Amino acid sequence: MRKIDLFELMRGRRTILDYKEQKVDRDLLIKLFGHAAYAPNHHLKEPWRIKIFEDEARSAFGEKIVDSYIRYGYLNTLSDEKLKKARQKYDRFFNSVPHHALFYMNKEDNGGYLDDENYAAVCAFIQNFQLAAWSEGIGTMWTAKPTLLDKEFIRDIGLSSTEHRLIAVVQIGYPNRIPRNRGRTPIRNSIEWIQTE
Ligand SMILES: Cc1cc2nc3c(=O)[nH]c(=O)nc-3n(C[C@H](O)[C@H](O)[C@H](O)COP(=O)(O)O)c2cc1C
Repeated sequence: MRKIDLFELMRGRRTILDYKEQKVDRDLLIKLFGHAAYAPNHHLKEPWRIKIFEDEARSAFGEKIVDSYIRYGYLNTLSDEKLKKARQKYDRFFNSVPHHALFYMNKEDNGGYLDDENYAAVCAFIQNFQLAAWSEGIGTMWTAKPTLLDKEFIRDIGLSSTEHRLIAVVQIGYPNRIPRNRGRTPIRNSIEWIQTE
């Protein structure tokens, strides 16, 4: 059995912005998602659903995301010419990443607590996936923006805002460049030990 130091893996994984062209083999991706599915999930609902945009589908997916950024006012200050250039830049980015995985779930509680449970389980799945991928030399970038709440965007990608909750878009591929580790603050700062009333 391959020996992986889990602590090294957790500390060594970095968010990757710059990817090689080479696609990750589909069977390997399926294997990694299969490992990720051992994430904790209440009542074994396995709420994760994934749409993976590859090849020719990447430009259209990227365009829909940029359309949503525009609706949210991110690119409002740009002139028509600059907006055109920004769109071209986004298009280059979306085509520079071999796979864009959109994670979502079915709503069952009208945005209530049960949906929060499932959302949490999908987040655990995503981090399991990121670590499993990193152990195979595959990089990822977890992104989440208000676009995930954009009804028009949700409809544009063939889902429904009443039935589905979008959770993240994760870029996947072999890293071209690995950013430096910026470290974390001492964990003691985040812990309170409570022993008496
Ligand atoms: C919910 C969530 C949303 C994120 N959204 C973005 C994003 O929109 N753009 C981005 O570059 N990174 C995004 N990240 C990645 C973080 O920026 C990254 O994890 C952080 O900078 C630490 O870097 P590391 O993952 O290399 O340790 C997101 C991470 C999470 C968990």
